[in-house]
Amino acid sequence: MSVIGIDFGNDGCYIAVARQGGIETIANDYSLRSTPSCVAFGEKNRVLGVAAKNQMTTNMKNTIHSFKRMLGRQFRDPKVQAEISSFPFRVVELPDRGVGIVVQYLNEEQIFTPIQITAMLFSKLKLTAEQALGIKVNDVVIGVPCYFTDAERRAMLDAAVTAGLNVLRLFNETTATALAYGIYKQDLPGPEEKPRNVVFVDCGNSNIQVSVVAFNKGKLKMLATSADANLGGRDFDRLMAHHFAMEFKSKYKIDATGNPRAWLRLCTEVEKLKKQMSANSTDLPINIECFMDDKDVSAKLNRATMEEMAAPLLKRVESTLQHCLQDSSLKLDDISSVEIVGGSTRIPAIKLLIEKVFNKVPSTTLNQDEAVARGCALQCAMLSPAFKVREFSVTDVQPYSIRLVWQDESGQEGDMEVFPKNHQVPFSKMLTFYRREPFTLQAQYTVPSTFPDPIIGHYTVENVAPGPEGECQKVKVKVRVNLHGLFTVASASLTEKRETTEESQEIMETEDKQDKASTDGPVNNQDSKVENHSTPAEEGSQQEKMETEKSTETPTPTKVTKNEGNEKKGKKVLKTVELPIKEVIKSLNAADLNSLVERESQMVQADKLENDRINAKNAVEEYVYDVRSRIYDDLEQYISPSDREKLSHQLEDTETWLYEEGEDCNKQVYLDKLAELKKQGEPIKGRRREREELPAAFESLLSSVQLARKATEQFNQGDEKYNHLDGAQVEKVEKVIVEKQEWVDKNLGVITATALHVDLPITSSQVRSEKSSFDALVNPIINKPKPKPKVEEPPPAEKKEGDKAEGEQPNGPKINGQEQEQSNEKPTEPMDVD
Ligand SMILES: Nc1ncnc2c1ncn2[C@@H]1O[C@H](COP(=O)(O)OP(=O)(O)OP(=O)(O)O)[C@@H](O)[C@H]1O
Ligand SMILES: [Mg+2]
Repeated sequence: MSVIGIDFGNDGCYIAVARQGGIETIANDYSLRSTPSCVAFGEKNRVLGVAAKNQMTTNMKNTIHSFKRMLGRQFRDPKVQAEISSFPFRVVELPDRGVGIVVQYLNEEQIFTPIQITAMLFSKLKLTAEQALGIKVNDVVIGVPCYFTDAERRAMLDAAVTAGLNVLRLFNETTATALAYGIYKQDLPGPEEKPRNVVFVDCGNSNIQVSVVAFNKGKLKMLATSADANLGGRDFDRLMAHHFAMEFKSKYKIDATGNPRAWLRLCTEVEKLKKQMSANSTDLPINIECFMDDKDVSAKLNRATMEEMAAPLLKRVESTLQHCLQDSSLKLDDISSVEIVGGSTRIPAIKLLIEKVFNKVPSTTLNQDEAVARGCALQCAMLSPAFKVREFSVTDVQPYSIRLVWQDESGQEGDMEVFPKNHQVPFSKMLTFYRREPFTLQAQYTVPSTFPDPIIGHYTVENVAPGPEGECQKVKVKVRVNLHGLFTVASASLTEKRETTEESQEIMETEDKQDKASTDGPVNNQDSKVENHSTPAEEGSQQEKMETEKSTETPTPTKVTKNEGNEKKGKKVLKTVELPIKEVIKSLNAADLNSLVERESQMVQADKLENDRINAKNAVEEYVYDVRSRIYDDLEQYISPSDREKLSHQLEDTETWLYEEGEDCNKQVYLDKLAELKKQGEPIKGRRREREELPAAFESLLSSVQLARKATEQFNQGDEKYNHLDGAQVEKVEKVIVEKQEWVDKNLGVITATALHVDLPITSSQVRSEKSSFDALVNPIINKPKPKPKVEEPPPAEKKEGDKAEGEQPNGPKINGQEQEQSNEKPTEPMDVD
């Protein structure tokens, strides 16, 4: 069972795995731990991760990036529009108002959604993990920005499902970082002591997230989070790129802002410069050859000038830091340290701001790039039944306040805030409504929200009908923010009054069970702990508010127990009936999701076939290069001059073929071509190999013969070592020795007489098998063990009282009681102990 954590960053992804020895990050096929969040399309296949980024400048229109920022959003969303304005690829509005990314794939125009593109990247990460671990990967925990809305989270889950991943939890990146920090800390204050408050700042490629977390032994509690979803390293890149573009415009009369390829190259170079700037404050050069109109460009910039330009960005960093501090209601003195993660916290100006706001030098206890993935892997291990992890409770918060809106029976709108901002999650609340007919609840983010469409979903509680006397029914609705941070209406139930009979008692029992089952659904213990602990108080307060709506015919609940009364009729009991809920949410329906899953798996299969085809082609090319250079080098003597010339022509023809009609064949054609070449090339390599291996094989055989000969000679000289051997058997050995020596001499002669480019009549494996059969025949004879000499039993008269005392056996070592006992039992065989 896989225990994997994924940090899907806007710039790059990290995969971490929990193993018995701890958490490790996984390297991809380029031996890199970061896999760029890039997906590219070609004529024959998709190109994913590192390979996609590498071909970006030559295939700009079909290389997709920054798609994480479009997940769960509509085309007209200002955030999407802002992204599109900087994309070199085409994005269109889909009939459902969603985002469609247009690419040329398999020689035709195709449109994919951000969910599909994300799924493609996830498929790549899944494959990377599977190749590294050698097992199938399904269960994962994926990091999400803490500010992600319901729609964005649902889109992320849909993408994961499309890629065949089973998400045990969408885990806020801030919380993942905090977990990766806290679980290894041995010196946290005790559970009842004042917690240790730590600030975490994660500034990545496109966002900054800040959190304040309270740690006690065995637990962490998120106190507050704040974020700027549109501020990260790429904004510094763009700022500098714009600066240089202006400089080049006046210096070289070229405008990079209007040329997507030049702009992309400039951004790439500028990012490198920015990283150098984090370590150097001096003037740093930027040089790009053939930048535009065949002109080489160069310029300089230093850190101080960059910081001046970036003042507005830095101001926003500062206000995000301050927001979090305010939301946490902590004083500076309450904060014990500030930890930084994310690539852009390496920018010195950002570090200084952190120090200024929190009055502490930021520390880098965690691996800045891998902390989120590691925290996710830890969480996956905690949720996985296959893994045992140190107990550590995680209490998270949700970023926006959520309210419910409904219409009462008279059509009046009612609303209430169910989960305020920074309310702990996962969490459930029970609300009570008094209704005669089905009703709809609308969940929405309290305006103003960072999401243009504040509506989370509509939930219609069905099958509500008036009571027997036309009165309102008491409907309990359980609302919940679950482990993924998704709002749900988890259940709705109606309490009916019934006359008891034996049957109704059975119903009560079933009802009990259902109730238990519906308490939590598929969530972990930690979740239920939170809920059980806090629900009653919440339920009371919610009920109070909701009951302003209630009808006057409120039924009073009567508590009923199973053994209540012996009468079979006439007793009033309450029966709980689960009500169906119809929801309209921003998530794909099952049929659409299934078709995405199928499409993705077809594309994965097609990529695999194309990969195999390319590998087969590369194998032909590699063979050509390998043999062609070696027949004039180490293989030269093992092929006759005329054959060498013939083979050389064949190799050259194959190389030409690869670039012409053989450029684009199917896999079998390449396999056949390789087989054809190998028919010529392998015998040459084989002859060389044999000439190398034969001496060692003969040496080994001769050494066996030599040993056997020595043994027979010693036997014939009456050596005491061999005087137990049987003479007839020894004669047999002598005969085989002679035969084998003749065989060796004959074959060595043949080998010497054979030219190097001619196949030998004898192979090294034949020689090795000759040695084996020789050893099998000879060794049992000459290595026959000597019989044990008989030892006289000491006369009983010599035994004295006390001879049995420990340690006084003449030849037996003093081992333990048992050994002692044995040697006492067998006094005649003391030699055996030696
Ligand atoms: N030494 C450095 N100095 C300045 N910036 C750096 C340095 N190293 C990396 N970066 C920047 O960090 C960013 C990448 O950071 P990170 O990997 O944390 O982002 P991400 O997780 O992919 O994105 P996000 O968190 O926004 O989704 C890039 O913009 C990169 O240029
Ligand atoms: Mg990140």
